[in-house]
Amino acid sequence: MAEKGEVLVEVKNLNKNFGVTVALHNVNMTIKRGEIRGLIGENGSGKSTVTSIIAGIQPATSGEMFYKGQPWKPKDSLEALHNGIGIIVQEMGTVPTISVAENIFIGDYDRFRVGPVISKKKMVAEAQKALESIGVTDINAARVTRMYNMEQRKLIEIAKTMAHDPEMFVVDETTTALSESGREILYKLMRKAADDNKAVVFISHDLEEIMDKCDTLTVLRDGDIIGSLEKDEYDPDLIKKMMIGREVKGDYYRSDMDGYDEEVVLRAENITTMQDLLCFNLELHKGEILGIGGLSECGMHTLGRALYGLEDIVDGKVTMTATGTEIKTPEIAFKNGMGYVSKNRDQESLVLNGSIGVNIQSTGYKANSNGIFISDKKERDYAQLQVDNLAIKCNNIFQPVSAMSGGNKQKVVFGKWLAADSQVLILDCPTRGVDIGVKAAMYKLINDMKKKGKSIVLISEELPELCGMADRLLIMRDGEITGEFLRPDGFDNTELIDCMI
Ligand SMILES: Nc1ncnc2c1ncn2[C@@H]1O[C@H](COP(=O)(O)OP(=O)(O)OP(=O)(O)O)[C@@H](O)[C@H]1O
Ligand SMILES: [Mg+2]
Repeated sequence: MAEKGEVLVEVKNLNKNFGVTVALHNVNMTIKRGEIRGLIGENGSGKSTVTSIIAGIQPATSGEMFYKGQPWKPKDSLEALHNGIGIIVQEMGTVPTISVAENIFIGDYDRFRVGPVISKKKMVAEAQKALESIGVTDINAARVTRMYNMEQRKLIEIAKTMAHDPEMFVVDETTTALSESGREILYKLMRKAADDNKAVVFISHDLEEIMDKCDTLTVLRDGDIIGSLEKDEYDPDLIKKMMIGREVKGDYYRSDMDGYDEEVVLRAENITTMQDLLCFNLELHKGEILGIGGLSECGMHTLGRALYGLEDIVDGKVTMTATGTEIKTPEIAFKNGMGYVSKNRDQESLVLNGSIGVNIQSTGYKANSNGIFISDKKERDYAQLQVDNLAIKCNNIFQPVSAMSGGNKQKVVFGKWLAADSQVLILDCPTRGVDIGVKAAMYKLINDMKKKGKSIVLISEELPELCGMADRLLIMRDGEITGEFLRPDGFDNTELIDCMI
């Protein structure tokens, strides 16, 4: 019988280089049965790299790994999963064009062989059971995965991992893609695994979450392990210091009470979308940071998309008030000085096979041309400025975005709109997956924009962020505004939460 505290996975002197980039440097780590191990560190510190090596996604450059006391060198993630080590990856981990069932049992279809053929019916039935067993009832395993949204696809990936009953699984920055109910499903599975003397490695940038859910915590910085803490040693300031290498001030939100102009710059009148919104009204003022909060399903993400012309608006309209221009498409929005950071960065905000430069410069054709030609130098400076502003971790702006860490990708998206100097910015979870140091930089940049008279809609699932930044805060539930709060009155958490549920 496997016992609590027994070493399950051991990593010795692990190194990983990508060309000149040293992603991991002599990493040593042991993961024991019965623990949920947190992994924390700045963007690009090596969290995804080390866990993806353990889970067979990529090989190490050098070093050794042991699993249940035996040398461990999985040739791919399927081999790892079939031997008991699974991973829920930071980015999309499902194939959109195949069915949910095929995703859940990918590499395992032989299990459903009846004579010469694979029985789809059997596979779908098993997959449906796998979904139900983690508490998911609104996904049809026979359907094509593409039909489902980001959160649902993450749940499919979780079901896939759990269907193999792993001895250990990694959860890489997954909770930011999940709503409250999805998070609860995941936390329960993690706790159950630990109680059954299995192990979990949990990666998150949310200090509170990681301290609450993890029994022990390991800090990485620039590819080095800085140290580990047991639950009774947790201290937010100490953890931040270990992550960043110097003291960081606890408070990184704005402290001012500056108001905004009365002038309305963007107006949504009675908008009704195919889903979520019915006769919705909203006014955004010049120099205002308008916070929008609620539970993930409340319609706030649809609202963000609708304001930027990304949703079919079946009734009502969104207009830029100064010109009366109706925002019907993202192209019109962009041409009229609007910008939009999507919660779903890989699919909606980035050209993944483009470079950092190409992505940031995509908003700067006008700014960087002299009428006829685009100036290379201007374009380079345009991108470099954002690399500096946001401390984007890269060797140069010609590196492809696909090779970047998750948080650094998010910085590229933010940087692209920052560079555009948009008059109106719709930010949907802009700090998703970015580390606390960069969060602080982003908050400052958002506040600087406000001071310059720009208007910002800040959609977020994090209440502290909303309370810390908003001039005015709207709370939504079931597609409607259930509460409006003003910064000068102070934001009361209990009142806000009452409006959400
Ligand atoms: N395929 C790759 N090609 C080149 N460099 C890479 C590749 N994958 C990762 N890196 C680099 O390795 C370093 C570590 O990246 P990793 O993804 O492990 O960071 P992370 O700690 O998971 O960060 P985040 O919090 O942003 O997800 C980064 O500098 C990253 O740019
Ligand atoms: Mg990562």
